[in-house]
Amino acid sequence: MPLRLPRRTLIAAAAVAGVLHGIPAAAADAVLNLYSARHYQTDEALYSDFTKRTGIRINRIEAGDEALLERLRSEGRNTPADVLLLVDAARLWRAQIDGMFQPVRSKTLEARIPAHLRGKDDGQGAEWFAFSTRARVIVYNKATIKPEQIRNYEDLASTSLKGRVCTRSGTHPYMLSLIGAMSEHLGEAKTEAWARGVVANFARTPRGGDTDQIKAVATGECGVALTNTYYLVRMMRSDAAADKDAVSRIGMIWPNQETWGTHVNVSGGGVMRNAPNREAAVKFLEYLASDSAQAYLADGNNEWPVVASAPTSNPVLNSLGKFKADTLPVGSVGRAQVTAAKIIDRAGWR
Ligand code: FE2
Repeated sequence: MPLRLPRRTLIAAAAVAGVLHGIPAAAADAVLNLYSARHYQTDEALYSDFTKRTGIRINRIEAGDEALLERLRSEGRNTPADVLLLVDAARLWRAQIDGMFQPVRSKTLEARIPAHLRGKDDGQGAEWFAFSTRARVIVYNKATIKPEQIRNYEDLASTSLKGRVCTRSGTHPYMLSLIGAMSEHLGEAKTEAWARGVVANFARTPRGGDTDQIKAVATGECGVALTNTYYLVRMMRSDAAADKDAVSRIGMIWPNQETWGTHVNVSGGGVMRNAPNREAAVKFLEYLASDSAQAYLADGNNEWPVVASAPTSNPVLNSLGKFKADTLPVGSVGRAQVTAAKIIDRAGWR
């Protein structure tokens, strides 16, 4: 029967063994404990490339954002996590508020990542960084909707779209971030009135993820819907006949090009407050901002790099063209989820 020791005992035993065998500090440090909520298979190459370049092995714990945050809360100060990667500004801000990150102060990160894509706690100075961006766009059924009907997010509340609008649940962070951003631009009262208008236009009760919204637009069950760009591009790159057929039936709109720009969300992360391998953690974040890692993010998961000069080769993503992106700081987007949650609750956008 295999010997079963509690995990902590094993770690302690390994540490002692390391000391006894005279393993130098650098080797003992050559590991990174990464908690990641990125849910994209294409990230494998991203991680193996980091190990190849630095010799730092990555222990990866992958789970959904909520499950990871829950695990970190229960592990408390003793968590082995060095770096936490999350998708969505609302969740990253929540992690910041929960005191999970520490200040990083990296010249590389400051130079390469634009200020509005970095989050910072005013009190502790804890920092987090966006490493890729995705836009939340409107897709429409080409047979039933004229694109002129929907130039802006505000138009989703227009009475001309009665019974035609589909969204995922308003409680999902992708929606909270968008609605929060709108409340930053329009104010809470106007955003709530808009949310009520959208709910009144629903074609069906919110359900499914972004890909389900795109498919329902293609079949005509919905006239218009919201999706993150990477789900759309993933479908555009698919060889499956059903996906090709769906893509042929839909069009895409960059909302709010004449006003504040299309809402942009991020994936990102920070160094954990009690990171056991702090140096490796900072190296990893700096690696994520490197040209090659930025290209992995853009080409693999169809996101945009945060480093403007990073070269990418994703023709399908590039075929979406240039657009005016909202430059609201990610910290403000994250914080605005509190207002957004109140709005969706009052508007019945479940
Ligand atoms: Fe996603």
